[in-house]
Amino acid sequence: MENRIYFDNGSTSWPKAPGVAEAVSELLTRGAFNINRGNYEGAYEVESAVLETREQLARLFHAPDSRRVIFSPGITYSLNMFIKGFLSSGDHVIISGIEHNAVMRPLCQMEKSKVAYDTARTDEEGMVSLESIESLIRHNTKAVIISHASNVCGTVQPIREIGEICRRHHIFFVVDSAQSAGTLEVDMQKCGIDFLAFTGHKGLLGPQGIGGFLISKELNREMKPYVAGGTGSQSDSFEMPENLPDKYESGTMNLPGIIGLHAALSYIEKETVEKLHRRKMELTKYFLEGIHALTQEGKNICGGAGASITGSTGLCRVPAVRVAGKQDIWSRTAVVSLDFQKMDNAVAAFELEQRYGIMTRVGLHCAPMAHKTLHTYPQGTVRFAFSAANTEEEIDICLKGIRELINI
Ligand code: ALA
Repeated sequence: MENRIYFDNGSTSWPKAPGVAEAVSELLTRGAFNINRGNYEGAYEVESAVLETREQLARLFHAPDSRRVIFSPGITYSLNMFIKGFLSSGDHVIISGIEHNAVMRPLCQMEKSKVAYDTARTDEEGMVSLESIESLIRHNTKAVIISHASNVCGTVQPIREIGEICRRHHIFFVVDSAQSAGTLEVDMQKCGIDFLAFTGHKGLLGPQGIGGFLISKELNREMKPYVAGGTGSQSDSFEMPENLPDKYESGTMNLPGIIGLHAALSYIEKETVEKLHRRKMELTKYFLEGIHALTQEGKNICGGAGASITGSTGLCRVPAVRVAGKQDIWSRTAVVSLDFQKMDNAVAAFELEQRYGIMTRVGLHCAPMAHKTLHTYPQGTVRFAFSAANTEEEIDICLKGIRELINI
């Protein structure tokens, strides 16, 4: 990746944590034996590494015990398991206005089975209203489903307060931690989270294809396993086992993924989530300040291409590039979306990549609902998502590139 700048960490993080590639390679080389199936030494070793990974995740998310950690391919599968394994005809759920299609599409499918949902009022910075969530609760409301941090603009939702509302009304609280796991502190118990969907390949710095969920005792009592099959346990029965984690884990597991995630989590425990987050926010602040400076510069040069849509008065009111959602670094992650006002966003992203080697993600980010809330639909945005491995020098190159593109 020489002369290339990777700012697409919202999609998947890169580079992965030190030791991840080696751990996966070693497993595949030395003996990628299945767990719960073979009664030989190599299988027991892998089994114990899987258990350690569950323990790491239970520690990270403050779960009461590691059996509540269920592995799946990632957030989308996990959310489908909740939405289709728990909700049934006549049920109602509440969501925010920044949800990803990982929530919207399964909910839309479930509407055909008479599951209804309401969207709580969410402002143009992507922040959901607590009053609106509470006012939407009805007698048949079963859960609130919230994306902890927006994958489009980085806005962080007040999950502790939402958890309190859920507890007060005896409804389940489901959190999508796609953009927050490994980035923000997520405490299942303090926030009253019943279902925490996570993925291993973004802030957790592990490989793609591994993720899962953590489930509370209360929700587990009511939720059915949406996927059924062999677990290597209670094989005399055609019914799924009731014990955790087997109840929700059928089929051969993604062991290379889990072993890679184990190495990534060991790195994160050593570095700490807090330190990694601090570094990412330094970079985000640096980038946002640079963008705000550019837009000011554009406003002051009336008639210049960056000065925008001025009309005949010469007053420059609309900058050439707009930050979608929150403008500052409070209550946000290291994800910043830009909407180029005088050029197609796809062209801007293409030019940044071609001329400066800057890799971003452009479009609707599988979250059309979030873009509608942020008033960036249907044009979408160019998204910059930083990792702790990025540098100020890379951001300088990017800002220079944006400056040249908008021709200030
Ligand atoms: N949902 C991921 C993203 O935002 C893939 O890019």
